[in-house]
Amino acid sequence: MLDLVHFVHIAGATVFVGSVVFFDWAVGGALARMTPEARKSAAHAIRPFSGPIIMGSLAVTLLAGIARLFLSGAVTGWADLFSGYAGRAILALVIVIASEGLAAPFRKHMRAGIDTLDDSAFLLWWKRYRSLNALVLAAVLLLMVSMRLGW
Ligand code: HEM
Repeated sequence: MLDLVHFVHIAGATVFVGSVVFFDWAVGGALARMTPEARKSAAHAIRPFSGPIIMGSLAVTLLAGIARLFLSGAVTGWADLFSGYAGRAILALVIVIASEGLAAPFRKHMRAGIDTLDDSAFLLWWKRYRSLNALVLAAVLLLMVSMRLGW
């Protein structure tokens, strides 16, 4: 069971991290080179796909991560939740949830820049959104690897 859940966690994390990087850097970079009118229609065509891929893989990653934590045997009582191992997993969960709250206004401004054909607003908020996501991904992956390596 532990192996299966670990696989699902890593598979979910691979799709999540990969799609965030792809949409933020490749799709965002392509949108940045378009005229505001072309960007608006491309962004509207992409949105129904990007949301489910990113949010769906994030949900799978988080649910499997929480299950993985309990199946690891590292948490047998409340006190274990404050151990270095579980503490890092919980910190990762808090960072991801808090960053979703933080990123929501960034995303809103970016989308408003697209919809109002405001080139500079789109560029400003896309770059901020991209940087925030990159920081969150780096922090969470560092925490995950540190759990494995016992730093
Ligand atoms: C987007 C969020 C997350 C990503 C991208 C992610 C990614 C990863 C990766 C790549 C590993 C393998 C690390 C390695 O073997 O070196 C891992 C391991 C693990 N993750 Fe996550 N994870 C995320 C969130 C979480 C959360 C929220 C929890 C639990 C609350 C969690 C629990 C674990 C556990 C228990 C391991 C096993 C660590 C070990 O080898 O002992 N993960 N995760």
